[in-house]
Amino acid sequence: MPSTTASPLMDRLGRVHTDLRVSLTDRCNLRCTYCMPEEGLAWLPKPELLTDDELVRLVAVATERLGVRTVRLTGGEPLLRRGLPGLIARLTALPHPPELSITTNGIGLARSAVALREAGLRRVNVSLDTLRPERFAEITRRDRLQDVLLGLAAAQAAGLAPVKVNAVPVRGVNDDEIAGMAAFAIEHGYRMRFIESMPLDAQGAWDRGRMVTADEILERLGERFTLEPLPRSGNAPAEEWRVVGTDAVVGVIASVTRPFCGGCDRVRLTADGQLRNCLFAATESDLRALLRGGADDEAVEAAWRASVAGKGPGHAIDSPDFRQPDRPMSAIGG
Ligand code: 5AD
Ligand code: SF4
Repeated sequence: MPSTTASPLMDRLGRVHTDLRVSLTDRCNLRCTYCMPEEGLAWLPKPELLTDDELVRLVAVATERLGVRTVRLTGGEPLLRRGLPGLIARLTALPHPPELSITTNGIGLARSAVALREAGLRRVNVSLDTLRPERFAEITRRDRLQDVLLGLAAAQAAGLAPVKVNAVPVRGVNDDEIAGMAAFAIEHGYRMRFIESMPLDAQGAWDRGRMVTADEILERLGERFTLEPLPRSGNAPAEEWRVVGTDAVVGVIASVTRPFCGGCDRVRLTADGQLRNCLFAATESDLRALLRGGADDEAVEAAWRASVAGKGPGHAIDSPDFRQPDRPMSAIGG
């Protein structure tokens, strides 16, 4: 990858930001109960979404001027974005192409995996919370488990490796499947990761007592497997373990009980062009208004640096003053 001479995107705490998460749409074809209500949400009107040209320009600024090196495409459900392989091909053709990955619910991946790979996508994370069809239908309010399983297999076959599977365990919902899902991932060569549930649902119904903590997840895994800790790679939020006797790796993302804000290297761009310096940020920077107002790249760069300069130290979920952000996860991107 050509190196950039951009000066780093640093905040006041010295954290350097090299990872950009781009939400391509706030829409989704599932209705995960922990994410959005049955009827869906008031989707962003199309004219408010960044166009492909605008997105490519912002990623060009990020990679050429700000030192961003990895870009993750998220949603809502990013595979719902029309012309996605074309957009990926354009991002791959930039002078400093970012390493591109995607977080998807896997629906439609069976059809698109090869085209995405050929366009330049490197890796996928697929969200999957259960392996039981009836339970899948309860959690997501759609009977689509089979599509997701086919999507996973297609991603693997297309070389979008390592294929990661993200599960959010919730007490009394799917916490009895932690070891079973790990076994499934080991068998298929996927990399299983369990994520502590965070207060980011649209309904504001998050309940700390139903969150399954990293300690509990490890306890459940320990009942079936022997785990050997792996050194943490860079600023990665996942803590990882090798499953002894296999070449499999499992991970836990303990956003709540072991926050990794101190090493955060991420910024986020919403589908309507608002820059967020944190998942939990209370304010956003309107890059879309700059673009549509005719701003040059220097002005976009300056706004971006100003946003990152104002980044807070962490999410403070456990503080009594914690306030859930106005946007739900589905409108921010994971
Ligand atoms: N807490 C933690 N993870 C969540 N996800 C969605 N909502 C939450 C939440 N409230 C996960 C999805 C997906 C990724 C984008 O974030 O399961 O894997
Ligand atoms: Fe869709 Fe992801 Fe929300 Fe589920 S968690 S409804 S897959 S955006």
